[in-house]
Amino acid sequence: MRAVAAALSLLLATTACTTMKDSQPVTTERMVAPILTTADALDTSTHARPQEARVTHVALDLALDFERKSVGGTATLDILARPDASQIVLDSDGLQVHRVIDGGGNELPFSIGASDPAKGAPLTVTVGNHRRITIHYTANPQADALQWLAPEQTAGKVHPFLFSQGQAILNRSWIPTQDSPGIRQTWEARVTAPAPLDVVMSGISQGEPEDLGGGRRAFRFAMDKPVAPYLIAIAAGDIDFRAIGPRTGVWAEPAVLDRAHAEVVETEDMVTAAEALYGPYRWGRYDMIVLPPAFPYGGMENPVMTFLTPTFIAGDRSLTGLVAHELAHSWSGNLVTNAVWGDGWLNEGVTSYFENRIVEEIYGAKRAQQEVALDYTAIMEALERVGADSPGTALHQPDGVESAGSAIIYNKGAAFLRTLEQQVGRGRFDAWLRQWFDRHAFQPATSAMIYEDLKANLAVSDAEAERLMLRDWIYAPGLPANIAKPDPAAFAATDAASAAYATARTIPAADDWNGWTSAERQRFLQQLPRELSASELGSLDTQLGLAGTGNNEELFLWLQLALANRYQPAVARVETFLAEVGRNKFVSPLYVTLWGEGEWGRTIARRLYAANRASYHSVTQRAVDRVMGRT
Ligand code: BES
Ligand code: ZN
Repeated sequence: MRAVAAALSLLLATTACTTMKDSQPVTTERMVAPILTTADALDTSTHARPQEARVTHVALDLALDFERKSVGGTATLDILARPDASQIVLDSDGLQVHRVIDGGGNELPFSIGASDPAKGAPLTVTVGNHRRITIHYTANPQADALQWLAPEQTAGKVHPFLFSQGQAILNRSWIPTQDSPGIRQTWEARVTAPAPLDVVMSGISQGEPEDLGGGRRAFRFAMDKPVAPYLIAIAAGDIDFRAIGPRTGVWAEPAVLDRAHAEVVETEDMVTAAEALYGPYRWGRYDMIVLPPAFPYGGMENPVMTFLTPTFIAGDRSLTGLVAHELAHSWSGNLVTNAVWGDGWLNEGVTSYFENRIVEEIYGAKRAQQEVALDYTAIMEALERVGADSPGTALHQPDGVESAGSAIIYNKGAAFLRTLEQQVGRGRFDAWLRQWFDRHAFQPATSAMIYEDLKANLAVSDAEAERLMLRDWIYAPGLPANIAKPDPAAFAATDAASAAYATARTIPAADDWNGWTSAERQRFLQQLPRELSASELGSLDTQLGLAGTGNNEELFLWLQLALANRYQPAVARVETFLAEVGRNKFVSPLYVTLWGEGEWGRTIARRLYAANRASYHSVTQRAVDRVMGRT
């Protein structure tokens, strides 16, 4: 521990700064994280040139305008720059910049360059020798990160709602800063909103909201740990809070809060379990917000305030691996962060492994093993789909290589760590992973760094490093031969039922079905013959209650199977689902399946997308646009 602390104080310099608190100046030391300067850490998704000038702290003062769907105000940036640097390049996407001033209120020249369709536009400010600037700006109502929900899209149906989704490179549409995961920044914010809406952010709340009169209130937040800027997040709506444990709690709309709280009531235990595995939770509070169903992801690991889809609420905590996952990102992702998006497995793969360890602690080995087995099948399917020699199946994905998708980044990444665990034993493996987090806390990392770290701190000899197949796991496509296979007995109960259905169309008894774990039910649905007649589908639905299930992972598998067989009775449920849910993992594949079903499906897909596109977040719009040939 002592060595780690020493390394930290060397690498994480601090800068003195003065802020105003209750109009008293307060001088504090701020943490400044290092940047990486090696070629493999060069982020091509940013316009920033951090080695010349970089942002170390962002102070936002913003107003939320729900009528105009606009966020605007000021961003004051602290800059660390080479002595000779007179310009700083920021990222922006659709921002209207009104003016930029220095600390003395004098205007600074700035220009917005040509917009790249993927990256947005560089915002270059001539700072001279100033190292603190204030940007006055307004975000576009169409800002990609933000979704403004009409009251009809909420559970309460009375008040509007706003949330942001920053990962990977969307935050530049509402915050003018350097939007690169390797350029960590501390931040603070003051945000005003109309009463009775509450605002939450991915920073620690600084006291009660201030009543400004005129029906508006101001909320303050601070994040004193340097974070990657994609992790700055905001949500606002008619929401309430309920505590879980001393440092955990959940926000949701009043109508959802009971169900949300019941589903995540194990969160404090999960934090405790995670700490026992890989070291202290370093962020203070761990709160969550359950958003309206338009949220485009299952979850997003926004520090101190995980964002969650309501579609994980099954009533029986069977889909709470999602919470374990977002919590695990408090180490892998938020503490140690991929410096470039092509090393996303460092965030998602390590987190998926860690997630499964938390699931094992909280729910036991059987559920954990079953989830591993589902993941393994997903890897195999991905390899089959794109070919095991396809470059997109490697964990490290250099620019220009098309990724084979989440089964690689998430599941193959997790399988790598599981293999290491199996090969060296849990004790050694856990000690290694913990030191990885400690050594790189609050810093960016690359594949090359974890490779070197594994060779130096896990393998005891060159021979062992060879045997672990470290290089293949990280850089080669396909699956190394030493992969830890899932427990073949994980699905013993359901595999027999699948065989019985395949040979004799025997449907599991309702009591058996309801006694299975959700993973078992998902497995059974995945193993059903892909081609089924309308009467076979009808019997399955009637006897197993598929269209009526409250478990959205199971519902999704049922709807996919039904649509792929052009099963007309399922269309009504697809219609209500796609009108309400914006979670891309569910929405895109349903449109893909419809699109693949000739005119029958395309007519339905066109009709539903015409009705629903406007109610989806830009992430989901973009994905479905591609499916439907709209881009
Ligand atoms: N960080 C991701 C979401 C993400 C990844 C957003 C890449 C944008 C770009 C989050 O932690 C995640 O993985 N969510 C999953 C959860 C699941 C794997 C348990 C999801 O949304 O389905
Ligand atoms: Zn994740």
